[in-house]
Amino acid sequence: MKIIETKNYAEMSKRAADLIAAQVLLKPDAVLGLATGSTPIGLYDELVRRYEAGELDFSAIRSVNLDEYCGLDGTNDQSYRYFMNTHLFDRVNIDPKNTNVPNGKATDFAAEGERYDALIRQLGGIDIQLLGIGLDGHIGFNEPDDAFTGPTHEVKLDPSTIAANARFFASEDEVPRSAITMGMASIMQARRVLLVANGNSKAEILKKALFGPITPQVPASLLQLHPDLTVIFCGDDK
Ligand code: PGA
Repeated sequence: MKIIETKNYAEMSKRAADLIAAQVLLKPDAVLGLATGSTPIGLYDELVRRYEAGELDFSAIRSVNLDEYCGLDGTNDQSYRYFMNTHLFDRVNIDPKNTNVPNGKATDFAAEGERYDALIRQLGGIDIQLLGIGLDGHIGFNEPDDAFTGPTHEVKLDPSTIAANARFFASEDEVPRSAITMGMASIMQARRVLLVANGNSKAEILKKALFGPITPQVPASLLQLHPDLTVIFCGDDK
């Protein structure tokens, strides 16, 4: 495990972009595992800047996102598909057909989970998986539970996650109560994992996840067993 503490959000975003950019340069058809949330926005802006400067080419890149809210389709501006389109995909030369987000409008989420895991296998697995971390230790939407869940699956969101994500919605009532998320298997099978965390509010859960007991009550703690984990943290709130 490699832990990098940066002095501010801009530096955190640049250091994280360095790792993703290195992956894109080394393997032009790499499979990027991508994440949403407020933390990676600066990293995506930095990738766009490097693309515009002619330093990066996404034309053969494939991507798989971690999760999606159940009930939202990609035209809903709160959906994670919409987030990815606006923050990254529409701003670089990635082929939209090569971008994948779980289908929040699936009628059968068990079948959608199977489809998504088969797709990841078919792509040859994830070369680098980007993660944020929730205040409750979730990664993707793998919430604290009695056991780790391997496959992509539907999950009931924790009240603390609903409260934390309410800031993106008109009111807390509008936050979907469930999501479909990549499970711990695809995340742990990624060849490299890059976790970004921003703000002093994340310091305590990050310490628990990286140095505390490995337990499904802190889903991110399983990352201690990943052979190629980089954590980039900045204590200063944006
Ligand atoms: P945040 O979310 O980047 O908005 O803090 C992280 C997460 O919940 O995984």
